[in-house]
Amino acid sequence: MKIEGKEYRTIWFDEQNQAVKIIDQTKLPHQFIIKDLKTVKDSINAIKVMEVRGAPLIGGTAAYGIVLAIMEKNDPNFIKKSSEELIQSRPTAINLKWAVDRMMKKLSGVNNNELLKVALDEAKAICEEDVKFCENIGLNGLKIIEEIYNKKKDKVNILTHCNAGWLATINWGTATSPIYHAHKKGIPVHVWVDETRPRNQGANLTSYELNEEKIPNTIIADNTGGILMQRGEVDMCIVGTDRTLSTGDVCNKIGTYLKALAAKDNNVPFYVALPSSTIDWNIENFKDIPIEERNSEELSHIEGLDESNNVKKVRIYPKKSKTMNLAFDVTPAKYVTGLITEKGICEASKEGLKKLFK
Ligand code: MRU
Repeated sequence: MKIEGKEYRTIWFDEQNQAVKIIDQTKLPHQFIIKDLKTVKDSINAIKVMEVRGAPLIGGTAAYGIVLAIMEKNDPNFIKKSSEELIQSRPTAINLKWAVDRMMKKLSGVNNNELLKVALDEAKAICEEDVKFCENIGLNGLKIIEEIYNKKKDKVNILTHCNAGWLATINWGTATSPIYHAHKKGIPVHVWVDETRPRNQGANLTSYELNEEKIPNTIIADNTGGILMQRGEVDMCIVGTDRTLSTGDVCNKIGTYLKALAAKDNNVPFYVALPSSTIDWNIENFKDIPIEERNSEELSHIEGLDESNNVKKVRIYPKKSKTMNLAFDVTPAKYVTGLITEKGICEASKEGLKKLFK
């Protein structure tokens, strides 16, 4: 997708400099900075501090993290230890473990002198596959937007939470892919962008990327979605997910659950877009999903531009106040209208998922 008219992906391998390139998302929307990852520690840190974020992109970064580990030290113990540290860098998005496991499986039994080439090819394949899957999610989700437009004959208003856009994947995004496809087809769309406190991924990233693609959007405070739905100003919701269970329960950015409840109460279709790499086939009970709890500073401080256009971080809460910063919640399957996947749209249930993924 485009930044200032130029096509980018969110991660790529720079052959000339033998480094992994990322867009540092902690600096957006005020600064567009491309950063080099040169060691596996760089990859782990990028995931932890959220220079890269979003389930599919975390997976891609972890895959390249294995490549960087091999470049540093082609030693089985070091590679194994690095793979474990990568998996532990963030707990909720299943794509992280999925990508590292896929890399390690591919590398098992490979000769030392071929290890780097096999790893690099596989990391590239993981990223290429994600691009294809996200594109197909878009084509499948487009049908829903088209249907609404054909009935309404007016602009389709879509509400989204967090950033499940191209910045969260390698390209296209999950929740945003149907929106980009609709826009390309000439269907008028407008996006309600949940700010997504505390890190403001909606305001800082989703609105930013939609602006760059010239898609009309409006940032709203997280609590505004309910009244907009009551007023008939939301035609559908589309969100992403960090882990979807085989039961159809969906774990996503904190606040998603409340949007799904409001959508149910107002008969607004609530869709979740995901590539199959986000499905956790092993956990049945959503209470077993590890929910990340992040640093309380994400709540108590906020970053922005001062009058001289310098980025400043300021404290907004009383020093003595306690904070709690849970990063994800779970939306039970009964509130999800459908799952938009690379293979088609299905019911959020065991039966629905089984039909698509044998
Ligand atoms: O904490 P983040 O910013 O990594 O959370 C991201 C989300 O919750 C996204 O909605 C999810 O990863 C889907 S990305 C296509």
